Amino acid sequence: MRRRIDTERLTLRSWEDGDGPALRAALDRSDAHLRPWVPFMRNEPRSLQATCDQVVEFARQFAAGEVYRWAVLAGDVLVGEALFMQKADAVPAIGYWLHVDHCGRGYAGEAIRALLAEADAQEVAALEAFVDVANDGSNGLIARLGFELDRTVDMEGDRLHVWLRCRPEVG
Ligand SMILES: CC(C)(COP(=O)(O)OP(=O)(O)OC[C@H]1O[C@@H](n2cnc3c(N)ncnc32)[C@H](O)[C@@H]1OP(=O)(O)O)[C@@H](O)C(=O)NCCC(=O)NCCS
Repeated sequence: MRRRIDTERLTLRSWEDGDGPALRAALDRSDAHLRPWVPFMRNEPRSLQATCDQVVEFARQFAAGEVYRWAVLAGDVLVGEALFMQKADAVPAIGYWLHVDHCGRGYAGEAIRALLAEADAQEVAALEAFVDVANDGSNGLIARLGFELDRTVDMEGDRLHVWLRCRPEVG
């Protein structure tokens, strides 16, 4: 996966040393908006130092090809995150969130489309997205992006729709 992907309005780039303060501020500001839907919020709020350490770890994981997490930037403003996770013996999954102040502008759709194009270029055969059944915004978004509802599962106390997208046929 490329470390940097540019779209019409956005840049997706792997998290870097130095992103900690912006990530901390985005998560703090967006806490109530993210907490119901994003599993990692169970471990938030972290301290600033722990957040700075975490972005260094994200960069390491990206370079090692373990988990690909991109900061999503509009200019130099952090507006969210997109991620792609390989899984042993399972279909890879994507994830995403937006800063609460940057919703409603089509940024999530634009970032995810770029991520899907990158996955297609890397010949990823299929992708899944796990979305809480009550998360209307995300279920609507992922359906608009061409995913199909595959199944519904119970996971760690949550009921999740599992959306599936297969790589389009070429030619
Ligand atoms: C899910 C989430 C990413 C969706 O964000 P979003 O901004 O609503 O999504 P989009 O990028 O698709 O934007 C669509 C909205 O932007 C509007 N929009 C404005 N300009 C636009 C443009 N140029 N292009 C497309 N849409 C545009 C659309 O009309 C739409 O608004 P509406 O929802 O009021 O109809 C966001 O709500 C979020 O971060 N939620 C919490 C975390 C979460 O649930 N993550 C997913 C876990 S599975």
